[in-house]
Amino acid sequence: MDAQGLHIETHPREGDPVLRAGRPDPCTVVLFGATGDLAQRKLFPALFELARANLLPEHFAVVAFSRSTLDDNAFREHVKAGLQKFARTQPLDEATWQRFAPRLEGISGGYDDAASFARLKEKLEQVAQRHGTEGNQLYYLATPASTFPQILNGLAGAGLLTREERPHQTPWRRLVIEKPFGHDLESARELNRELSAVLDERQVFRIDHYLGKETVQNILVFRFANAIFEPLWNRNHIDHVEITAAEKIGVENRGGFYDETGVIRDMVQNHLLQVLALCAMEPPVSFGAEDIRDEKNKVFRALRPLEGRDVSHAVVAGQYQGYRQEKGVKPDSRTPTYVAMKMNVDSWRWQGVPFYLRAGKNLKQRLTEVSIHFKSVPIGLFSGEGATCQRLQPNVLTLRIQPKEGIALSFESKVPGEDVSIAGVTMDFNYAESFDQPVPEAYERLLLDCMRGNATLFARQDSVEQAWSYVTPILRALESGEGGDIHTYAQGTSGPDAAAALLARDGRRWTRL
Ligand code: BG6
Repeated sequence: MDAQGLHIETHPREGDPVLRAGRPDPCTVVLFGATGDLAQRKLFPALFELARANLLPEHFAVVAFSRSTLDDNAFREHVKAGLQKFARTQPLDEATWQRFAPRLEGISGGYDDAASFARLKEKLEQVAQRHGTEGNQLYYLATPASTFPQILNGLAGAGLLTREERPHQTPWRRLVIEKPFGHDLESARELNRELSAVLDERQVFRIDHYLGKETVQNILVFRFANAIFEPLWNRNHIDHVEITAAEKIGVENRGGFYDETGVIRDMVQNHLLQVLALCAMEPPVSFGAEDIRDEKNKVFRALRPLEGRDVSHAVVAGQYQGYRQEKGVKPDSRTPTYVAMKMNVDSWRWQGVPFYLRAGKNLKQRLTEVSIHFKSVPIGLFSGEGATCQRLQPNVLTLRIQPKEGIALSFESKVPGEDVSIAGVTMDFNYAESFDQPVPEAYERLLLDCMRGNATLFARQDSVEQAWSYVTPILRALESGEGGDIHTYAQGTSGPDAAAALLARDGRRWTRL
């Protein structure tokens, strides 16, 4: 209460709306792990595409900090060789390369060596002069999570990380990290403590590349820019929701990493929970970063906990045949490469609506999608005596994240003819047909957003911890065996039979892969 009477506190609206485009400030991207796989396959191709589309800041440079010694020319050749394979637009645009290459510089050093960071500091000062980047720095840690503490220490020790005391402070310092953000709840908290010791949360950009996918961003636009779906988007009309992320590939050359990780840490804790949150969240009060992230976090808080023996009733874990023979995998590994689970969101909107999630490697096909299964019609008008038609299929709305990006709605229709015969048909929207421009890669959008300081599409500290508090007891139960067996499945199939049984118990079945 204030002197005038009631004091109403308004909700803080921090962060720029995601809608605002525009060229980012001048800056230098300082890349750790610049000769690694992620940099070669995703980061350089994304930066290059941004350069080609003229979206990078006019004053821009990349400084690659690497443990291997490479002079600038050798480094540029290495980047070019990667671009020739992985750039989105082929053949490589030589004119863009001629503009891009001189902005790449390298420096070698050790992550635990203070002298290397002192040299980095000098180098960054020179680069800022040479390229006019005004001292704005984006540190990108494309390195294994075990190196984060050393790199943070090195940067902080050299005075390269300045804590932002207020929004829009310049020159700005931002840090981008890649998942996994920890291994479980405890280690995630530890990492967050290390980050918050040197940076303000608004300077930390935790990449979850799913959030950069056009089709994932479109979930919010689809829900909140159209009037007709949202009134149906609740327990009164929706029977259940299915979220699938099936991959055709196995663990490829990442056996060692994967065996420590498994599908729940690799796909569920981050990508799939983020997709679930976008589908289940309430409308945000604005499209600002904090408002959207607040709503997603509420979904994580509403997830009904699963632990101990309950896990064996709601979760099916699987491992593909031949996984234990993969390079880097332990011969007696219990690491799941597949998971199917039944989740509940204990909120007013979703009470009684199960969310079924499944993700796995070495499955029949690559398919990531969300399907919203609506309830059946209340009475079977067309199934009475004399009617020729039989069972009606409930409507299904499918948000195809990849491939064949689009949205489809299935409904029942009368088959032309004298009888009332009914068949299922589909209305289908396809990005490739409706827009004559290619769908950008997730990393292009995300890198641009970090440079713009827009954190909407990045995971915030509280939601990362919230997601870990949901999955950690599930992981513990599976690891101890209390959560059930690890089922094997043949490569190229839909996963273990037990996953089908999980839905069959509820009288439902998965969309066929
Ligand atoms: C990564 C996982 O985060 O996502 C990989 O570590 C997985 O194991 C990949 O293959 C899937 O991404 P996408 O974009 O191909 O669906």
